Amino acid sequence: MKVQMDIINEKQIDYFARAFSKLLTPPKIVLLTGDLGAGKTTLVKSLAKYLGSNDAVTSPTFTLLNIYEGKFPIYHFDMYRLASAEEASAVGFDEYFDKSKLDGVVFVEWPENVAGLIKDVDFVVKIEKVTERRRKIILTEGENASCN
Ligand SMILES: Nc1ncnc2c1ncn2[C@@H]1O[C@H](COP(=O)(O)OP(=O)(O)OP(=O)(O)O)[C@@H](O)[C@H]1O
Ligand SMILES: [Mg+2]
Repeated sequence: MKVQMDIINEKQIDYFARAFSKLLTPPKIVLLTGDLGAGKTTLVKSLAKYLGSNDAVTSPTFTLLNIYEGKFPIYHFDMYRLASAEEASAVGFDEYFDKSKLDGVVFVEWPENVAGLIKDVDFVVKIEKVTERRRKIILTEGENASCN
């Protein structure tokens, strides 16, 4: 399944998140791709809200992983500062991507940087910046969902 949407402002990203969140029953792994400033973290803010979290969502650029408390744990990764799957494994990240043990929903920004680490992907959301406020969103589901 692959769907594409034209989003005209941040409010519509929030609407998209509200609908998409209904599909995110644990365990799920969601990859978020798109350039710097595309809106990956902005989307996670809305998704965490609709998954029942009141926690403040911030970019995990330096922490690499933020965990929010919602109806279930929400794991928000930012692989921007990592250079390989090996680096991610070295800091113990593999365990989060083992579906048989996952108790929540995982969001990963910059998954391209750790290619090969995440094998069992449920969805990829690709965000393309069209103008300052417009975005194109391409949602891919299932076995073909891969950022590589
Ligand atoms: N329609 C829109 N959807 C998402 N973000 C938007 C939209 N319009 C404007 N923005 C703005 O674009 C910026 C997106 O920044 P954000 O941190 O979410 O990007 P990112 O993809 O996570 O970047 P990075 O790769 O640096 O982590 C925010 O300042 C947000 O307010
Ligand atoms: Mg971000």
